[in-house]
Amino acid sequence: MMNLFFLCFIYIIGGALCGDFNVMDYGAKPYGKNDNAKAFMDTWKAACDSGESATIQIPKGNYWMGPANFTGPCKNVSSIEMKLEARGHLKAETDLNKYPTGDWIFFGWIDGLTIIGSGTFDGQGDAIWHLNDCAKNQNCKLLPTSLKFNNMSNTIIDGIISVDSKNVNFGIIHSQNFKARNLKIHAPKDSPNTDGIHVERCLDVTIENARIMTGGDCIAIGQGVSNIHISGIACGPGHGISVGSLGKYPEEKDVKDIVVRDSIISGTLNGLRIKTWADSPSKSAVFNITYENIIMNSVYNPIIIDQLYCPHGTCPDESSPSKVKISDITFNDIRGTSASDVAVTLRCSKMFPCTNIKLNDIDIDNNKAKRPAKSNCMNIKPSYSGIQGPLPCK
Ligand SMILES: *[C@@H]1O[C@H](CO)[C@@H](O)[C@H](O)[C@H]1NC(C)=O
Ligand SMILES: *[C@@H]1O[C@H](CO)[C@@H](O)[C@H](O)[C@H]1NC(C)=O
Ligand SMILES: *[C@@H]1O[C@H](CO)[C@@H](O)[C@H](O)[C@H]1NC(C)=O
Ligand SMILES: *[C@@H]1O[C@H](CO)[C@@H](O)[C@H](O)[C@H]1NC(C)=O
Repeated sequence: MMNLFFLCFIYIIGGALCGDFNVMDYGAKPYGKNDNAKAFMDTWKAACDSGESATIQIPKGNYWMGPANFTGPCKNVSSIEMKLEARGHLKAETDLNKYPTGDWIFFGWIDGLTIIGSGTFDGQGDAIWHLNDCAKNQNCKLLPTSLKFNNMSNTIIDGIISVDSKNVNFGIIHSQNFKARNLKIHAPKDSPNTDGIHVERCLDVTIENARIMTGGDCIAIGQGVSNIHISGIACGPGHGISVGSLGKYPEEKDVKDIVVRDSIISGTLNGLRIKTWADSPSKSAVFNITYENIIMNSVYNPIIIDQLYCPHGTCPDESSPSKVKISDITFNDIRGTSASDVAVTLRCSKMFPCTNIKLNDIDIDNNKAKRPAKSNCMNIKPSYSGIQGPLPCK
């Protein structure tokens, strides 16, 4: 208590507020190639151990940084809030040998963290993307995620920027009540596996107002996610907004209660996609998903459900179906242009055909051929209402 009082006293004299923890006071060096990870982690530890609500300041400047952990629970967790105000440009170490765990910046076991500011988290992936062989090698070593959140509750991230991640930009795993707003995510369209936001095993997630340009999925929803609301997304280039791939592992949990609305998808490979592995061991289910008011601009596969997902023909038997059940999916008011002849693809498995799939007011043309696009269906009887372009499957 004495120490805290004394520190507060100095901070007030120094013009800062008590409860402010500035990385500069813990040895951060915002220039050159100094590894700032220790200074940042020391700052976090002091703030997290203070027992009071605290704001960590990362002022403007260029901070070179190897992997860093920010973990809780913080002292006095039920009555405090932790805030991270990021204004600087953080640059990830480019030597992959320095990443023991596969993440760059890791947040875990924190209740009540808010990250704000217009700071940039720069994964510097351009230096190492050529080492990614995951397209050829199924057992490839995963490159580091830029910002990983694990076992978090009551988190807000607002306004920060992620560029050139080595692999996934934001990984949100095993967390509850997570809000991501006003994010900007940017990686070249040919950068490998640079998913914008990957969510897995989470409850109550909101993602709103994000500009996502990437080489992977703009947003990927993995197993065990429920109650996720996505809106105001400008996605593209990239691979679209994706549920899956699901079903690869036996113990996967259901994916349910998803709303994706009021978004624009441009120049992507897929628009709205649900994919489950062919020959899957998992008997999980995907249900209650609503897509509403989505504009497609020259998207190759605007609407696609694929229960026979098997990239590069790596499945033992490609004709064996997925056991992941898909039901209660609504596409409402989806319009714009397709870059291919087939705007709606619904490939379901013979053993577990998709059920209760509704298409209402679909209006998608093939912009290149300047003609209506087509639908392609397998093991499914969708229900249609309102405008239908392409024409429904027979
Ligand atoms: C816990 O946090 C509250 C609210 O900030 C504060 O009033 C209280 O003194 C803190 N308790 C301890 C033990 O640090
Ligand atoms: C981060 O935490 C993990 C797991 O606790 C540990 O294995 C890793 O070495 C830590 N990384 C750093 C940079 O402290
Ligand atoms: C976080 O982990 C603890 C145990 O490690 C678990 O009890 C808790 O449910 C987890 N929280 C979330 C949100 O998953
Ligand atoms: C479907 O999911 C939405 C979004 O989480 C939720 O509001 C709604 O209650 C769910 N519907 C059913 C029937 O569970």
